[in-house]
Amino acid sequence: MANQLFKTKSPDRLIRESEAPERQMKRSLTAVDLTALGIGAIIGTGIFALTGTAAAGDPAPATASHMATPVISFIQSWISGAETVMGRPGAGPGVIFSFMVAAIACGFAALCYSELASMIPVSGSAYTYSYATMGEIVAWIIGWDLILEYAVGNMAVAVGWSGYFVKLCHSLFGLNFPLWAVTDTKTAQHLIANGGDALQGYSSTTLPSIAGYPFALNLPAGLIVAAVTILLIFGIRESARANSVAVIIKVAVVVFVIAYGAFLVNPPNWSPVLPNGLSGVMSAAAIVFFAFIGFDAVSTTAEETRNPQRDMPIGMIASLLICTLLYVLMSGVLTGIKKYTEYTGDSAAVATAFGGAPWAQALVSAGALAGMTSVLLVFQLGQPRIFMAMSRDGLLPQVFARLHPRYRTPYITTICTGLAVGGVALFTDIGSLAELTNIGTLFAFSLVCIGVIILRKTDPNRRRPFRVPLVPLVPILGVLMCLMLMLSLPILTWIRFFMWMGLGVAIYLIYGMRNSKLQHGIDTGDTEDELPPIS
Ligand code: ALA
Repeated sequence: MANQLFKTKSPDRLIRESEAPERQMKRSLTAVDLTALGIGAIIGTGIFALTGTAAAGDPAPATASHMATPVISFIQSWISGAETVMGRPGAGPGVIFSFMVAAIACGFAALCYSELASMIPVSGSAYTYSYATMGEIVAWIIGWDLILEYAVGNMAVAVGWSGYFVKLCHSLFGLNFPLWAVTDTKTAQHLIANGGDALQGYSSTTLPSIAGYPFALNLPAGLIVAAVTILLIFGIRESARANSVAVIIKVAVVVFVIAYGAFLVNPPNWSPVLPNGLSGVMSAAAIVFFAFIGFDAVSTTAEETRNPQRDMPIGMIASLLICTLLYVLMSGVLTGIKKYTEYTGDSAAVATAFGGAPWAQALVSAGALAGMTSVLLVFQLGQPRIFMAMSRDGLLPQVFARLHPRYRTPYITTICTGLAVGGVALFTDIGSLAELTNIGTLFAFSLVCIGVIILRKTDPNRRRPFRVPLVPLVPILGVLMCLMLMLSLPILTWIRFFMWMGLGVAIYLIYGMRNSKLQHGIDTGDTEDELPPIS
């Protein structure tokens, strides 16, 4: 049984499959292209929508429960016997350090991704690497876990998109929507409790009730997911060009926020720098980690890169460095323009910061929307591909690998993903979604780091065009950083994560294990070459 669960797909077989003439992709991407691709997937909701809540924290709700408390604070107070501090502490202006901590964790993971991607240069990312290194059950767990990164991540992006859409309609056209139609119930209640400025820009701020319970739903979030899903069913051929345009717009807007915002900074707002000390910085780092997710998408283009050995690490590390610099400057400016406490529960902090200059607010909101839309597209395109890879391996029903007869897109998985992402985004707050995405992605990154150590032992002689320096130290540091960030996430996020993974293991035992093609010695007969490229 254990043999069966940990059976691996040999890297040779993976590479042979990818080298078949009908599957060979054009090797045209350079280091600059990869850097642009990385930035395209990285800059989005994280910086535009989560910086505010990371700096301000999440105050304990009226019915205080320890569920929103970071696991690590809970363990600390349990050991020391002190009373648990409820809620998630904010980093305040120290959010710039949170961005640096998250970037370091991603840097270690990026090095490990680079080694695996250059060694097994086939698309499929962490799912494929773990099939080759740690066996089928781990591959399944990673594939299942990646749903948290891609699908749940996109739910958070859709909610962030909605926040900026509402602000843009207000500042450009003076349009005001009823609060209940443009946000989820938890956030609506939060805004109502805060009152004042938080309620500006809505035509009505009372919530209808259903069976005695207040009710709200985020219609713009659901609608943008529907629009992206429809676009993807018909196929997007121009995605690389659209990505370049989106990258230019995003970076231009971020540079504008930094340059123009610098004149609006009121230095006393930066004091105190660390209102909640190290625990505030770490909890915020665990949230803003979301802002870096996406650099790993670069590793999926290994087969299309001219010189993967040199260019994969350059593309990932350069996009991380550029984004870290922009994020640190931008979050410094935002916490300088307004007191960090004013961003409580605000999913459009950048627009809020420019509230005094409607033209700037409109410009920033439009840029943020363009940026988030491109992230939505990349992730909404990636998720069906992962389902497809798992389905081709027999771990999911074959229907998930079916292509549309005319558009050659995996339309069934695209529709299922769209329904799930849009459906949940209607009702859920951005914080909970981002936290769940982060725990899942951090777990995947840890497994990739472990994969490097395992493969160095089990397959030491294989050619490694890119080698992580100081193995096993660097991968171990990567795992430890990821673990530390995971422990800085709330208890409730851990419970949700365990429930999700438990469901995944159950599905594997009931379905995947019995239908796995590798277990039955069946060739996977890939059809990936028929798909439109990711970028
Ligand atoms: N890093 C991506 C974003 O912030 C997921 O939207």
